[in-house]
Amino acid sequence: MNKFDNLIRKKNKSKIVCLTAYSKNIALILDKHCDIVLVGDSLGSVLYNYKSTRSVTLDIMIEHSKSVRMGIKKSLMVVDMPHNTYRSSSEALRNAKKIISKTKCDAVKLEGGKKIYHIIKTLIKNKIPVMGHLGILPQSAKNFKAKGKKIIERNNLLKDAKILDELGVFSIVLECVESSLAKEITKAIRIPTIGIGASVNCDGQVLVTDDLIGLNPIKVRFVKRFANIKKQINIAIVKFKNEVKNKKFPKKVNSY
Ligand code: KIV
Repeated sequence: MNKFDNLIRKKNKSKIVCLTAYSKNIALILDKHCDIVLVGDSLGSVLYNYKSTRSVTLDIMIEHSKSVRMGIKKSLMVVDMPHNTYRSSSEALRNAKKIISKTKCDAVKLEGGKKIYHIIKTLIKNKIPVMGHLGILPQSAKNFKAKGKKIIERNNLLKDAKILDELGVFSIVLECVESSLAKEITKAIRIPTIGIGASVNCDGQVLVTDDLIGLNPIKVRFVKRFANIKKQINIAIVKFKNEVKNKKFPKKVNSY
């Protein structure tokens, strides 16, 4: 059984764990625990201070993904296709092939449903595994309000999820989708849903790692901080500084 079938079989059996990585050292830790490691274009805001993910380029994604690849042995590695790299089927195919050949990732993730039907169809026809992304779509969002409060929005999202399932994507990220709609979508499709701000009703959960370890000073409702790594780093740096100032480091054993 391949990695994708393995993941799909987890639906209704065990929750899927997904986190973001932008570099080898974090990927090495995540690989032990995650089903999916995502090189998310969230790196635009988390690492580069861009106002939106729209400024992230293909080259940036490829360089970070090459680093992440070195840390991954067992998890499924997914790379976000950045904004303006899949405006047509031919552009999407060219860029997805480039991402896969340069980074050796397992799959790419694209934002959207019906609107990018032909693009996803082309990728899948060409044997490129695709992860979907519905709900808030940061690459095109005008606002970051949760989705699924209005009937029309609910119907469209459910339709989009069914379309992606029919097309053959292997899972769908649901970002900030109202809980009861996340439940309905998860029940209605054959592939796993991975929620972020979309309740426990999804088949799995994803978070931005920098948010959950307390490296990124973000405060949004769907983030839970599981550690305060910033504090730990600060303690280590202060110790280093003090030892340097007091000539306690380096010692003889650290010298040649
Ligand atoms: O870019 C990203 O990190 C993502 C996740 C938040 C799902 O798309």
